[in-house]
Amino acid sequence: MKYTLNLGAKEFSSDNVVLVSAFEKTIEAKGKTKESKAIVNTHWSKEIKAAFEKIKTSVDFTGTAGSTYTLHLENGTTVLVYGLGEKKAVTFETLRNHSAKIYKAIAAKYKEVAIQFDGFTIKSKADESLNAMVEGISLADYKFDRHFVTKTPAKLTEITFDSAAKKTGLKKLQKTLDDTLVVTESINVGRNFVNEAPNILRSTTYAKEVLEDIKGTKGVKSKVLGRAELKKEKMGLFLSVNDGSAYEPQLVHLTYTPSKMTKKTKHIALVGKGLVFDTGGYSLKPSGSMVNMKFDMAGSATVYSAFRAVAKLGLDVKITCILGMTDNAVNEHATMPDAIVKARNGLSVEILNTDAEGRLVLADCLDYACDQKPDAIIDSATLTGAVLVSLGNQVCGIMGNDQKLTDKILKSAKNTDEYMWQLPIIQEFHDDLKSPVADLKNIGGSSFGGSSKAAAFLSKFVKNDIPWAHLDIAGIGDSQGHKAYCPTKGASGLIVRTLVDFLKNA
Ligand code: BES
Ligand code: MN
Ligand code: ZN
Repeated sequence: MKYTLNLGAKEFSSDNVVLVSAFEKTIEAKGKTKESKAIVNTHWSKEIKAAFEKIKTSVDFTGTAGSTYTLHLENGTTVLVYGLGEKKAVTFETLRNHSAKIYKAIAAKYKEVAIQFDGFTIKSKADESLNAMVEGISLADYKFDRHFVTKTPAKLTEITFDSAAKKTGLKKLQKTLDDTLVVTESINVGRNFVNEAPNILRSTTYAKEVLEDIKGTKGVKSKVLGRAELKKEKMGLFLSVNDGSAYEPQLVHLTYTPSKMTKKTKHIALVGKGLVFDTGGYSLKPSGSMVNMKFDMAGSATVYSAFRAVAKLGLDVKITCILGMTDNAVNEHATMPDAIVKARNGLSVEILNTDAEGRLVLADCLDYACDQKPDAIIDSATLTGAVLVSLGNQVCGIMGNDQKLTDKILKSAKNTDEYMWQLPIIQEFHDDLKSPVADLKNIGGSSFGGSSKAAAFLSKFVKNDIPWAHLDIAGIGDSQGHKAYCPTKGASGLIVRTLVDFLKNA
């Protein structure tokens, strides 16, 4: 898609198809309870107004949120009117969703569209409004169609934002547009990884494709640790998950160093669970729960997308990104329940359930990340089914050891309109992980509070009091049909914007 900004526009940049907004106004009749609705279209051009009013039935169109109306001008221009509802009720999130809906309504019909942007600018904030609109459109403009013989690409290839605003504002607005597209492109790269089939995206192919994707990005260095290196690193927990696999484990270690490093430059480590498929291992998942476990690497895709965006934006923050990749499979070498395995940090772990594998991979990756001496660590993982029970499948769970860090991430989630809620880690959850034969067991005695107990487990592998936050995206990472800019089936791509916002302000 080609996006163009046309500032100082007196006329539409297209005489073909133009999109304008309409708002709805509720009029209460004096002294009566009866109320009526009317359209607010004071920002329309004379010709559009005249053409609209000429059509008798147009009185019924009042600009209700999500409603549409099409009319034609004498010169042949098609005018699409999109109702945004009551003006004061429009938020950046509703604008994001409306933009996605607009995209879906027009993508198959028109080749190019000119959007009368001033009518979509809310709260007089042009940058934020453009950001929300472009996010909505470019995130809706995503299809995982690489495996179809016949593809049906969208007809729409060019969108122009017309605005009467002064041309002097172009540079700033253009940067907003460009930066937004870097983020959404990174989200879509991550979605592709998540949606790819597990027989195609093995740990080894995943690692290779990540390196291929980031190649040439300024300030980025990369290395991959395979089985031999993980053995050298004594990553017993990570290796135990890989024992039943026909493919090598891969720890992808990326660093981004900004061009200007000062003493003030923060160093953040991102860690992601990259289970390219989770069968459960010997604690085999029932077939219904196993379907879609290709998505068990969404945590790693999420932090990778954020890393990629920050590096390509050239932000002023150093980032270490650790992706722990393997599948959790079964063969004669697979780890059996009752196994006792030594972690990289020296703790012994009694593995009572091989399906609680994500925490094992993350534990060693977190310990490894601590050695990079970051100022803070954030991990992201499809860690527990329990997070769907407690928070629903639309909300990201956040847990950690540092309230300040947690609050900052929660604020970033709010800034970007992504749902996130904190769950506690209490002493009793730590107690529940005590084992009679090892330092720790990998599951609690009861499944209640499963997300928090998983986080309690992880916390044992964060050393030197480094502030750490854990994001459980088992719900929010997958299909989000309630958001028009997320696919109803497949990776949502959510939480990347939260992370980018956090890293911008780090
Ligand atoms: N990958 C799963 C968690 C998951 C479940 C993600 C559903 C997305 C949807 C994880 O490895 C797992 O199996 N967790 C177990 C933990 C249990 C054995 C303590 C779970 O949630 O059942
Ligand atoms: Mn599992
Ligand atoms: Zn898993």
